[in-house]
Amino acid sequence: MAGRIPQHFIDELLARVDIVDVIDARVPLKKRGREHVACCPFHSEKTPSFYVSPQKQFYHCFGCGAHGTALGFLMEYEHMDFVEAVEQLAGSLGMEVPREGGETPARPKREFEGLYAVMEQAAEYYRQQLRHGPRAVDYLKGRGLSGQVAGDYGLGYAPAGWDGLLQHLGKEATDAMHQAGLLIQKDGGGYYDRFRDRVMFPIRDRRGRVIAFGGRILDQGEPKYLNSPETPIFHKGRELYGLYEARKASSRLDRILVVEGYMDVIALAQHGITNAVATLGTATTAQHLETLYRLVPSVVFCFDGDRAGRQAAWRALEHALPALRDGLEAYFLFLPEGEDPDTLVRQLGREGFEAAVDGAMGLSDFLIQGLKERHNVLSHEGRAHLADDARKLIRDLSPGFLREQLLTELARLLNLTPDRLERHLGDAGEPLPATAARPQRTPARHQLHMTPVRLAIALLLLEPELASTLEPVPELVSPDIPGTELLVELLETARQNPHLTTAAMIERFRERQEYPHLLKLLEWEPAASDSDTLRRMFLDAIARLVSKRAEQRTEYLLHKSRVQTLDPEEKAELNALLTGRATR
Ligand code: CTP
Ligand code: MN
Repeated sequence: MAGRIPQHFIDELLARVDIVDVIDARVPLKKRGREHVACCPFHSEKTPSFYVSPQKQFYHCFGCGAHGTALGFLMEYEHMDFVEAVEQLAGSLGMEVPREGGETPARPKREFEGLYAVMEQAAEYYRQQLRHGPRAVDYLKGRGLSGQVAGDYGLGYAPAGWDGLLQHLGKEATDAMHQAGLLIQKDGGGYYDRFRDRVMFPIRDRRGRVIAFGGRILDQGEPKYLNSPETPIFHKGRELYGLYEARKASSRLDRILVVEGYMDVIALAQHGITNAVATLGTATTAQHLETLYRLVPSVVFCFDGDRAGRQAAWRALEHALPALRDGLEAYFLFLPEGEDPDTLVRQLGREGFEAAVDGAMGLSDFLIQGLKERHNVLSHEGRAHLADDARKLIRDLSPGFLREQLLTELARLLNLTPDRLERHLGDAGEPLPATAARPQRTPARHQLHMTPVRLAIALLLLEPELASTLEPVPELVSPDIPGTELLVELLETARQNPHLTTAAMIERFRERQEYPHLLKLLEWEPAASDSDTLRRMFLDAIARLVSKRAEQRTEYLLHKSRVQTLDPEEKAELNALLTGRATR
């Protein structure tokens, strides 16, 4: 096992990297005043609300509330984990990532690099075989695909025979090929190709790397589709077929269609509808939805109109609910019996199909309809069961417009006032969270109410060196003033690491529950930014805290003195407080 990456290295890395370069290389930025702006890559918008601050080394979107450091940006945008993002940044600066314990930087990724490489070579081989495989070409043409679309999706052909790929990539690659799921081991030892005489659909991850294949039989036969098994680089509950291609086809996606099959995605693309993705033979998972809602505010599920389809849709709804924050939408399109998006788009054409999508059923309609189908609203018992089901669904929903709307509609359905319904839903089990509409997205700057603690923390984040202007103040921590403990911890951290940057300070808290609060405070902008003013504001905030704590303590001791005798120490403290010396 590789040791941890030392903290000082991450500090150093964040001090050397410029977030503007990191983001600009991926999302071109325009300079505006002291900041750099662009249309937000994390949600769809037409006017830029994505700001990058070179001072803070921090990005922030005023539209969707996305924010973070250069590391956070890479993790979000490139879908990397923390270590990958550190390695990527370090690599771009020519720095080697050290590990604690003095081990050589063991890289688990190295191993995977071999798998990615072999998958890429296999995809290339299958593409090349398609050129020499008239049967496969005829098959694809027969399904209405052009060479262009086949190329966009990297379609290929795995030839008949047992070892075409094995021979082509050679003996040395056997291990990697086996691990990547391309080979099957024979009982007596040795290997043969998993995919034979099939049209090949490469499955790419969000960064465009081939991580698996789906293979379709050309004629009749079983199984119709054969997929790569789970491998170290392929976890099918996480991936969405066509997502990479969809993002590539359009830089501004505003909605995504979720369909069932590879051919549905491709046939839609053939008709100019390039925003479809497919789950890989699994139900839609919560993970899928998190991924999708990070990219677009609106997801349309296409399902068969039959029983199985409606059941699958209901499961998708259950998974969608917890992911649905305010401003996000889910729709359900039920297809006519016997049709799938592939056959339907061929009948209706692009416009017709898009009209059908536009007319898809909204989530709340589908939810109410589903509940009505499941329960008899005419009987008392039925209504009770319905309310019970509803409670489970609504429990997962964050407060906001959609929740209010559903409560209203349910109340109408159950013939209750929304208040009574709410009480009833609460009574039936654990209480529902409060319904006060809490906007999930950060609408504007300066919105946060800046208490002295917040002010002190925000200033300290902006300028960690401020910590050195202050002697340790033990009487800062007060259980009655939330945040004082965090403030003292930040002061300590900054004091012990005199050259810590804003971003490095923030990143130290990544795993902590305070992390989102710190990110939020970093959005605050001081009216003036010269260090003298900042220092004065900081000292002032600290002074206010100290006196507030003194006030609380005085009040407490006075109160106590009325009901019991103070011990000598407390008496001395109260005396000191009352004579204005706010020390113990
Ligand atoms: N699937 C799978 N394994 C199977 C069958 C299906 O992984 N044995 C997945 C594939 O992703 C496939 C999707 O489920 O694309 C839909 O399957 P199916 O409904 O059988 O697809 P069809 O529309 O019938 O496929 P085609 O249009 O190619 O005939
Ligand atoms: Mn089909």
